[in-house]
Amino acid sequence: MGSVLQSMPAFINWLQQTPFSLTVATVIWIVPLVQTVHILGIALVMGSIVLFDLRLLNAGMRSLSLAAAGQRFLPWLWFALPLLLLSGLLLIIGEPERSLTNPLFYAKMIMVLTAALISWCLQRALRKRPAGGLVFRFFALVSLALWVAIVFAGRWIAYV
Ligand code: HEM
Repeated sequence: MGSVLQSMPAFINWLQQTPFSLTVATVIWIVPLVQTVHILGIALVMGSIVLFDLRLLNAGMRSLSLAAAGQRFLPWLWFALPLLLLSGLLLIIGEPERSLTNPLFYAKMIMVLTAALISWCLQRALRKRPAGGLVFRFFALVSLALWVAIVFAGRWIAYV
């Protein structure tokens, strides 16, 4: 890990001089367009995960079974995450130093991985325990907190 971080400045230097990075950085409409895609992806993730987690917490949509809630809401999460990854990568390519030197960016990535893993495990665990339970409710709360923290970290990157 140490040597990866040591070689980061050289990587950033190389990346920001590639024609692709220069194009993303200088063509005036590319970054706003990519940011728009990122924001739409965030809306999809938060919309689907809030509804799924609230259902797990028994806080709404009780007419849907837990499994039906997973089937209805989570495909939007799995659709939006690759969109966020792609648009996020393009933002990094356009301005590598901004994110790659920022500890908040790495914290955000770890939280994205953890939150996605929790949502995936919850979805799978529902097949064996369709009635849910306390453990499901606990992880629904952790998941909600993580996704909100991810949005906060994403916004905060601009100020650190
Ligand atoms: C999956 C991989 C992801 C990557 C590589 C990524 C990368 C980025 C980058 C590079 C930025 C620009 C930060 C800046 O320069 O200020 C950004 C912004 C942001 N990201 Fe992500 N992101 C990812 C996923 C997510 C997810 C899952 C969420 C939340 C559900 C999220 C929420 C945000 C927010 C709220 C912003 C600020 C948007 C703005 O102010 O226009 N990101 N992301």
